Amino acid sequence: MTEFIREGSSLHLRNSHVSYVIEVLEGGFATHAYFGKRLERFHPQSFRRRYGLGEQGSFSVQNCALNHTPQEYPSYGLGEMRIGALTVRAADGTATCDVRVVSHSVEEGKPALAGLPATFGGEAKTLCLELKDEHLGLSVTLLYTIFDDCDVIARSALIRNDSAETLSLERADSLCLDVPDSGWELLTLSGDWARERSVVRRPLAPGVQGVYSLRGASSLIASPFMALCRPEATETGGEVLAAALVYSGSFAAEAERDSRDCVRLRLGLNEQHFGWRLDPGESFQTPEAVLAWSDQGLNGMSAAFHRLCAAHVVRGKYAHAPRPILINNWEATYFNFDQEKLLKIARTAADVGVELFVLDDGWFGKRDDDHSSLGDWTVDRRKLPDGLDSLARKINALGLKFGLWFEPEMISPDSDLYRAHPDWAMQVKGRTPIEGRFQLILDLSRGDVCEYMYHAVADILSSAPISYVKWDMNRNFSNIGSCQLPPEKQRELPHRYMLGLYSVLERLTRDFPDVLFESCSSGGGRFDLGMLYYMPQTWCSDDTDALCRCQIQWGTSLVFPPFAMGSHVSAVPNHQTGRTTPLNTRANVAMSGCFGFELDLNKLPAEELEEVRKVIQRVKRLRETLLYGRFHRLLSPFAGNDTAWLTVAQDGHEAVLMLTRTQARPNTDPPVIRLSGLEEKAVYRIEETGETYGGDELMNAGLCVPLAWGDAASVSLTLKRVDA
Ligand code: DGJ
Repeated sequence: MTEFIREGSSLHLRNSHVSYVIEVLEGGFATHAYFGKRLERFHPQSFRRRYGLGEQGSFSVQNCALNHTPQEYPSYGLGEMRIGALTVRAADGTATCDVRVVSHSVEEGKPALAGLPATFGGEAKTLCLELKDEHLGLSVTLLYTIFDDCDVIARSALIRNDSAETLSLERADSLCLDVPDSGWELLTLSGDWARERSVVRRPLAPGVQGVYSLRGASSLIASPFMALCRPEATETGGEVLAAALVYSGSFAAEAERDSRDCVRLRLGLNEQHFGWRLDPGESFQTPEAVLAWSDQGLNGMSAAFHRLCAAHVVRGKYAHAPRPILINNWEATYFNFDQEKLLKIARTAADVGVELFVLDDGWFGKRDDDHSSLGDWTVDRRKLPDGLDSLARKINALGLKFGLWFEPEMISPDSDLYRAHPDWAMQVKGRTPIEGRFQLILDLSRGDVCEYMYHAVADILSSAPISYVKWDMNRNFSNIGSCQLPPEKQRELPHRYMLGLYSVLERLTRDFPDVLFESCSSGGGRFDLGMLYYMPQTWCSDDTDALCRCQIQWGTSLVFPPFAMGSHVSAVPNHQTGRTTPLNTRANVAMSGCFGFELDLNKLPAEELEEVRKVIQRVKRLRETLLYGRFHRLLSPFAGNDTAWLTVAQDGHEAVLMLTRTQARPNTDPPVIRLSGLEEKAVYRIEETGETYGGDELMNAGLCVPLAWGDAASVSLTLKRVDA
């Protein structure tokens, strides 16, 4: 149940686990009083005393009092010396902003945010706090939504210019959160190509620290996410407070430890890639940020995010449906294929039980390598003389669905599209544009370019029975300039790009509701809640080495559930690391997400092909649990030699345990894993061994799991509840 309680100057939102309290001071200052475990009541005296806010009726901002006051949406210019949430430049060139609460209202449910991905639905309550700066003629509506079924608060701000002059936004964050002590560590997800989302945990030093992207995508380098963990917090216990952004472009996520050992979190658009002119009457909607709280450690935090993703972020037919087991030809052929080669891969795949064949890069224009043709989305008849429709139907006749790769946001200088519309590429006039992977980026701030992009994809999707799209994006921003935007709006381009992209994705997913979309950006370079709103799964990484994937999928699972992670079995030696790992290890790791293959199955020896057939049968049996179960991290690949995690069916009837050891070590005991998330009193039978254990035994005494000889050995066990 969600509740809103107003008592005196306190506005209190809560569900059965968490509370969020705003204290509105005299004169309308919105201070942040509390976020954490559910409170039965909030008495403001103690909070006011701590920050010197006086008894009710006696607050004044004189003498820069705000510099020590926890605030909901601090604005620049009033004596606030810490990182702020809002900077507004007035027509006279000054930048002082003073927004005060004028009213509040509460509505049932969750409003949509115009033009942006955002959480939705379910039993929820939304507090709308109206603030105004009378001097500037500026209004801000802060939205706070609490959900009944997950310990998450969604926040955003709508900023309006009610004055007669133009105002310029220089910063407009999605979230500011003041935390009253600095006894935390900061946890972020950082990485690069082929090693996305490593877990980084560090003490909070005085000053500002954090992660950001200036790449025009949420990025391979850092995720739009940060968590504060108590130093003693583990996977299974301790307090964690986390924030993530529902956005896919450049962002900033910062934590500031101030001189009084309080911590301020800010999350939102990166101000170096942002600026927005608000003409009289115009408004600006910030992206949404979500805040999670847990006293059950990092697994508790992830449970809140995973539930949020499942119930309030992912939409459409595939939100809760079994995801097809796919085979993708990229690593099998790269650009070098023809129809017969593809059909040969598809025939064997169909025979062992694969459900979807995906044709990757190289099917269009004259693209024999990555130097050309992005933008020319017409089939290359040299490779596919009978066209896409014919190929798709042949694949369908084998019993497989057909999927296709696109990289629609890009334009190759060597393309008919560029020759016809050089001004459609993002560029700074007069400068030679800098290429990335020999390509430029389309200027999606332009309506005509978005229109072209929609039709380029929609026409192909209408021309053949295509059930799946892999939507790739393989370079980041440079030469940020638009041939169409006036000088005073050039700063708006990075965010306008995202709005253009989102508008096309909204249209395509609405017009092609039966297509499963998978997001990709050189692997997992745009793995964020914004893309998840349009596309229910994301290719986790171009690195398919099973040992690397243990780390990548572990880090990804902090925020994202298994059903969001594309993960495939690829050939050995692995194309990214050169390492050879056993087939069962590659399969055990890959089946912990949206399972598939990234190789030519014809090249496997007969006994491995049989193993593949059996794995596919097992994945089909366990798919509901593997994708939509409750995911528990057990042994961290960042901390030791073993990786283990457990997925427990939502109704608890079964669970799948995955264990992978990195390096064989002689003369050591087999690992004993203490499981999580089972019923203490239930009895479980392990299918593969026939052994029976109590839930309490498995979670407290642990399970000893022997592994085969050799590096990268792995086991996957199925636990069935047998007492019910
Ligand atoms: C990058 C992706 O991550 C790969 O899986 C593949 O689709 C290539 N692009 C194709 O160019």
